[in-house]
Amino acid sequence: MSDMLCSLIDLPDISGLLENLRAEKIMIRRPNPWEASSVRRFVTEHFTENWADEVQVSFSHQPVSSFIATCEKEILGFAAYECTRRNYFGPTGVDEAWRGRGIGKALFIAALMGLQDMGYAYAVIGDAGPVDFYAGTVGAVPIPLRDGRGIYSLREDPRFLNSGGANT
Ligand SMILES: CC(C)(COP(=O)(O)OP(=O)(O)OC[C@H]1O[C@@H](n2cnc3c(N)ncnc32)[C@H](O)[C@@H]1OP(=O)(O)O)[C@@H](O)C(=O)NCCC(=O)NCCS
Repeated sequence: MSDMLCSLIDLPDISGLLENLRAEKIMIRRPNPWEASSVRRFVTEHFTENWADEVQVSFSHQPVSSFIATCEKEILGFAAYECTRRNYFGPTGVDEAWRGRGIGKALFIAALMGLQDMGYAYAVIGDAGPVDFYAGTVGAVPIPLRDGRGIYSLREDPRFLNSGGANT
């Protein structure tokens, strides 16, 4: 999987989408610090422990650098940023039962607005799985990488990368 780059200069307007979601009682908001365990549980149950570890970093920022989608008290999805590396978007995920309603897009754009607020003009989508989702929503493009390797295969500080395969 490749990393992708997207511009933060002209993000899509999601006010109509947020309104439609609100009409279905679906809220997009930052989680509160006291919801960290619930978010962690959601990510572990629906996705992976590694993703939960990454999202946990969002709770060390103020404001918390993630968004969740909720319906009543249920968490439906999440999107994190500025967690795995600076200026990185991800991870993100929506409960399978709630996909296809615009929740993933709303979470994604809300998180990109968070990066925009930090002063970034571009964002990196780390190890982008659904490439067409990112290309379709914001026109993200794959970043050409040497050997196709992003940060996820690194086993040491990239500054000390050598050609001996120490990072594979
Ligand atoms: C990717 C994901 C977050 C999308 O969530 P979602 O709520 O279903 O997405 P939305 O309903 O907001 O979709 C918004 C648009 O993207 C499109 N889209 C959604 N998932 C897509 C995919 N996997 N590939 C291509 N297009 C996709 C939708 O058709 C919709 O297009 P439209 O605006 O033209 O109607 C969700 O499928 C998911 O959780 N996937 C598993 C986890 C994952 O892969 N996370 C990314 C890790 S990098």
